[in-house]
Amino acid sequence: MNTRVKVLLVVGARPNFMKAMPLYKALKAKTGWFDPILLHTGQHYDYEMSKAFFEDLELPEPDIYLNVGSDTHARQTAKIMVGIEDVLLGEKFHLVVVFGDVNSTMAASIAASKLHVPVAHVEAGLRSFDRRMPEEINRVVTDVLSDLLFVTEPSGIRNLKNEGIPNDKIHFVGNLMIDTLFLYRDKAARSDVMERLGLRPQKYALLTLHRPSNVDDPQKFGEIWGALMEISEVIPVVFPVHPRTRRRIEEFQLPVPYGIRLLPPMSYIDFLALEMNARLVLTDSGGIQEETTALGVQCLTIRENTERPVTVEVGTNQLVGTSPERIKSEALRILEGKLKSGKLPELWDGHAAERVVRVLEEWAQAL
Ligand code: UD1
Repeated sequence: MNTRVKVLLVVGARPNFMKAMPLYKALKAKTGWFDPILLHTGQHYDYEMSKAFFEDLELPEPDIYLNVGSDTHARQTAKIMVGIEDVLLGEKFHLVVVFGDVNSTMAASIAASKLHVPVAHVEAGLRSFDRRMPEEINRVVTDVLSDLLFVTEPSGIRNLKNEGIPNDKIHFVGNLMIDTLFLYRDKAARSDVMERLGLRPQKYALLTLHRPSNVDDPQKFGEIWGALMEISEVIPVVFPVHPRTRRRIEEFQLPVPYGIRLLPPMSYIDFLALEMNARLVLTDSGGIQEETTALGVQCLTIRENTERPVTVEVGTNQLVGTSPERIKSEALRILEGKLKSGKLPELWDGHAAERVVRVLEEWAQAL
């Protein structure tokens, strides 16, 4: 290959940014080889959900911004597809890289593959086997359309093989998001967020909750909330609230006791600091299951399934489901000192981006 390899990296929602950052910078550092262009779909647009992350991660302004905003799934996906198609028709790219499992991920992979632009999927192969999760549909569609599948954990390899994806497309590289975490861990340790919020290490539980299946149904959310209120009588619960969840709390008129502290969504570094110092994390997020495993922090996942089984098999994560009794009893066990020990999963070593770049260099030789 004589010309530089033009790579379009597509991000759109909060969990994408920390996965894209190390790869964008590693490609940028390979001057003469790669020409990485950063496209932001605008799926997330609030300052706290988007720009704050670009600032913390020292990413430049996106080269291309689609400004799609929020909408129903089909409308949002369609707007992103149209925007990406326009970009790919206007300029030749050798590769489109997509991250994770959000609507922007799937939309970009459909638009690119229909124009015969190869697609690389970072975080391929994860499966919850629950098609009621929009992310599961995004994962399955993205993987089937991808030419290079970068996998974070062994279950991803098994799942892709079971779905008939050829071996030579699958690359077990580790976890780009954990590259980012290791890079910023020291900076997070120096953050003043604990002081600003008047928190002391190990003296609070950290909560995040935003899955539609947990917060959109008043009965379900009410039951989970009941358990959290009881936990907050034993240890203060610090809760940075996703905009969707904030609306539901208001709509369902859930009482907010003194022990539950509602906060706006946090920036990357501040949230990392809150995770590192928490006695326990309660969450229904995907990425936070991985971050707590990498940090060795106790995590209870308020879901019936996880697409990241390595965090349970090897890490500090426990899947507790959504029954209020179980959430409460498992939290109390941790507070009594019955901790789950965990190790770092294979290849979560801060060098995933280098492995991805090596695969891309080899792939580009054949262009
Ligand atoms: C999306 C991802 C989810 C990820 C989550 C992290 C999909 C299908 N879901 O869910 O996998 O865990 O991001 O945050 O892609 N909103 C704002 N401001 C924003 C963005 C959203 O107020 O900047 C509100 C809007 O009312 C919007 C709602 O949040 O309708 C949902 O946003 P959306 O991007 O559709 O999904 P998330 O729930 O954020």
